[in-house]
Amino acid sequence: MTASEKALRSQRLNQITHEPHSKLDALVKAHAPFETRASFARFVVAQYLFQSELVELYNDAELTAIIADLPARCRAEAARADLADLDTEVPASVAGAVKNPSKARALGWLFVSEGSKLGAAFLIKRAVALELSETFGARHLAEPQGGRAEGWKSFVRTLDALPFTAEEEAEVEQGALEAFNRFTVLLEQAYATEAEPA
Ligand code: HEM
Repeated sequence: MTASEKALRSQRLNQITHEPHSKLDALVKAHAPFETRASFARFVVAQYLFQSELVELYNDAELTAIIADLPARCRAEAARADLADLDTEVPASVAGAVKNPSKARALGWLFVSEGSKLGAAFLIKRAVALELSETFGARHLAEPQGGRAEGWKSFVRTLDALPFTAEEEAEVEQGALEAFNRFTVLLEQAYATEAEPA
């Protein structure tokens, strides 16, 4: 057995998503979302689209039985309020959202959505320069109740403790990789769309 096979599931997911995460991080920065509110609004459009595609998963009964506070972790409403703060229309949905994934695949998607709250700690600090905050325009980047670190640790602890078949291990990895691909598509789409005048 190699070292990576012995690693915790979450560590394995970190490893396999390291490259897509670096690419996405670079792509976000290439769009300079903190230069202007108009650019930040495009970033929020991508975040809103991504979160709104995950609403069903965050409210799924089977998944909530595993992660009790799952519905409260969803940020679709916060992102929608940010759009309103930024005088930006709620975007139409984009074809290709995840549909009826298996439990393990869904958890891969949620791993990415929850993990993105870690990077959000850095992003919200930069949003302050645009006079945005966790109560205006950058609500979806706010620190979750109970703290970022604790929210992430409890999610990962639960994920790591689940007994998975080999097939489910493959599915959770698939879900995490798909989620990074999807965010990339939505980000490109958001910036390709003409910004609404503020
Ligand atoms: C849609 C998914 C994600 C997006 C859009 C995203 C975006 C970003 C961005 C833009 C940064 C850079 C912040 C800065 O330097 O100003 C960052 C940092 C970070 N992200 Fe993500 N991220 C995502 C998913 C994840 C996941 C799944 C994890 C954990 C498993 C994660 C963990 C981190 C951490 C720890 C940082 C802090 C700095 C670093 O270690 O590079 N992110 N993220």
